[in-house]
Amino acid sequence: MVSLSNHEGDGASSSDRLRMRGIAEVRGEGTMDNLSSLKEELTRAAAAAADLAALEEVRIGALGKKGRITALMKELGTLSPEQRKAQGAALNVLKDEVAAAIEARKEALAGAALDAKLMEERIDVTLPARPESVGRIHPISQTVDEVVAIFGEMGFTVAEGPDIETDWNNFTALNIPPEHPARQEHDTFYLPGEVDGQRMVLRTHTSPVQIRTMLKAKPPIRIICPGRTFRCDYDATHSPMFHQVEGLVIDETTHMGHLKGCLIEFCRAYFGVDDLPVRFRPSYFPFTEPSAEVDIGCERSPAGLKIGHGSDWLEILGCGMVNPKVLENCGIDPARYQGFAFGMGLERISMLKYGIPDLRTYFESDLRWLRHYGFASLDMPSLVGGSYS
Ligand code: DAH
Repeated sequence: MVSLSNHEGDGASSSDRLRMRGIAEVRGEGTMDNLSSLKEELTRAAAAAADLAALEEVRIGALGKKGRITALMKELGTLSPEQRKAQGAALNVLKDEVAAAIEARKEALAGAALDAKLMEERIDVTLPARPESVGRIHPISQTVDEVVAIFGEMGFTVAEGPDIETDWNNFTALNIPPEHPARQEHDTFYLPGEVDGQRMVLRTHTSPVQIRTMLKAKPPIRIICPGRTFRCDYDATHSPMFHQVEGLVIDETTHMGHLKGCLIEFCRAYFGVDDLPVRFRPSYFPFTEPSAEVDIGCERSPAGLKIGHGSDWLEILGCGMVNPKVLENCGIDPARYQGFAFGMGLERISMLKYGIPDLRTYFESDLRWLRHYGFASLDMPSLVGGSYS
């Protein structure tokens, strides 16, 4: 390609321009015939570019600041008005055609690059999995799935909230005002500083999701909220991060009988014991009135713990009728609406069901532990599937 580029540039002087014109005339590129052969040449060059770098060279050579089409454009000023009009229109068409050819080649090259990448990354999905790389479902994920499946059958939906909560959602709205003794029991992790004048905490229970839900949804409400919770505590049955599931039902007619029926049904389904003894023991929680703790029947022997019939009881969850003050805090009229709530520790019920002795091991990321206690990935829990026994 004869290069005009040494002589051009945005600041080309009029003598430069004349010189360029002379060269263009000598080369004859400005005539209609030659525009069409220029188009031929440039589109062929674009189509033949082997890669994006080569294509970029074609683009610069044609349309760049010192490109051949750009040079012809610059000559327009030296033509008579009529010539300029015709030549300008023809050059614009040429420019668009060449640009389109470059764009088309770019797409083709990108497509080819993608195809090559896909070919390279191809895997044969029909190959059997290597035994050493088969994953397992963590017992806590399995437990969440089981709990969700059981309450899902009863018509509950899953609600979620953030791990970092306001002091108000985590405590005050749940009828645990500042200085309330229940705050001490929670061994709270407070975050430094304040957000919008509020202290932030790592939520100590999943109960704040009740508050979030009641603030934005109108009754009837029927939700469960599984999730992470945090307390400054560490031994065989406590870990600073653990999981709970909260439940909340609010409507105009739900009473303590519904609470009992729902939780008895849950305990029996979860532990897979149809006639599991379940008892409700009076208790106290600031956010429920009346409140109860739920125990299930068990037998303790030197051989271990057996859930089911026996002379012993094992506490597994807390519950109660939602305190009218909590409803009021969320803008729900307690004269019209009522309902129940419950909360339980997921590691606790998981340890009991699967005979896992130490809660801390759930979070040690020990692969041998996971292979031993984990679940097959396709073993989805469902009531009909019978994964509960
Ligand atoms: N939030 C309680 C805890 O962390 C558990 C709980 C008890 C939740 C009773 C409830 C309830 O909703 O009614 O210990």
